[in-house]
Amino acid sequence: MRILAIETSCDETSAAIIEAKNGDKRVKILANIIASSLSLHAKTGGIIPETAAREQIKYILPVIEKALSSIPTIDAIAVTIGPGLIGSLLVGVETAKTLSYVWNKPIIPVNHLIGHIYANFVDQTTDYKLQDTVDRGLSTVSNNYIEFPAIVLVVSGGHTDLLLMKAHGKIIWLGGTRDDAAGEAFDKIGRILNLSYPGGPSIEKAALKGNEKEIDLPRPLIGSDDFDFSFSGLKTAALREIQAIKQLDDITISNISASVQKAIVDVLVKKTLKAAQEYKAKSILLSGGVAANKKLRTEFKSKIVNLKSSIRLFAPAKSLCTDNAAMIGAAAFFNCHFVKWNKIEVNPELYF
Ligand code: KG4
Ligand code: ZN
Repeated sequence: MRILAIETSCDETSAAIIEAKNGDKRVKILANIIASSLSLHAKTGGIIPETAAREQIKYILPVIEKALSSIPTIDAIAVTIGPGLIGSLLVGVETAKTLSYVWNKPIIPVNHLIGHIYANFVDQTTDYKLQDTVDRGLSTVSNNYIEFPAIVLVVSGGHTDLLLMKAHGKIIWLGGTRDDAAGEAFDKIGRILNLSYPGGPSIEKAALKGNEKEIDLPRPLIGSDDFDFSFSGLKTAALREIQAIKQLDDITISNISASVQKAIVDVLVKKTLKAAQEYKAKSILLSGGVAANKKLRTEFKSKIVNLKSSIRLFAPAKSLCTDNAAMIGAAAFFNCHFVKWNKIEVNPELYF
């Protein structure tokens, strides 16, 4: 089966073609085109929904055309229906509906958050040229497949959730953030530090030259019995530290960045490993934009070897952690529920 997948939930406009057949454990990417309005949002320090949607109207057809060039036929269309910004979602969904009607192909609606998880089910060993050859997905060598049960950490700009995945389509929510998401904390602290938007990659870069022990920051809910998270207190603590500093020079920014990054990573790693042990997981899957963070990936790698049970760690290539349509196509293939074009609606509040 060949699927045209469309993703427009936030500021990216992406179209991908994925291919897989029954019994495959991963999907193959034939094309994955991403247009971003990030440079516009960098000027305003955040996403303005109206601006994002207007840009997406310009990009959507060229992106689909480019993805389809050299692909003779498709069997279905997958599209993100939520969660996300309503104007942005509508651009993708209305386009998918029109194509479905004109081409007489079924639609597979996809939850964006489930899409992030399925970036782990994309074949990264084929000749598809990943934009990012430096940091390919962890544990994605050809015979290393994801085994269930798996514990999934979804860490994006809007969400931080821990899930138990028993099989395809069988996902149980274990806990999530009570306030800010991990990516949101990175973005807000990045803004306080005057770093460029989005804050996650900027803090990661600044942290390279910093000392993570320099500033003592809280690790909220790190020892709690549940699988919840909370990052707003950490943001406030970082703000207080920053306000107390007279001269915010480069080395101070680097030290704060390294300390913030370490505090966020510590909580994410500890809680995910606790869930993995409690539910006797065979795999841990990292997903969402924050999963691109190298510190997070290396901490997971080093802590997982100390566990008594053997658990395998998976994370998508960096370029597949942030929003892209290939992950939406993968989610659609493994959860293939066809819907007629006139039965599909956007749902900005969609959750697990
Ligand atoms: O998944 P995503 O592309 O969009 C949402 O669905 O939200 O995630 C974007 C988030 C932003 O908050 C961004 O700062 C964060 O992911 N992010 C990172 C890194 N790359 C992106 N956070 C930490 N380190 C990174 N390298
Ligand atoms: Zn996302």
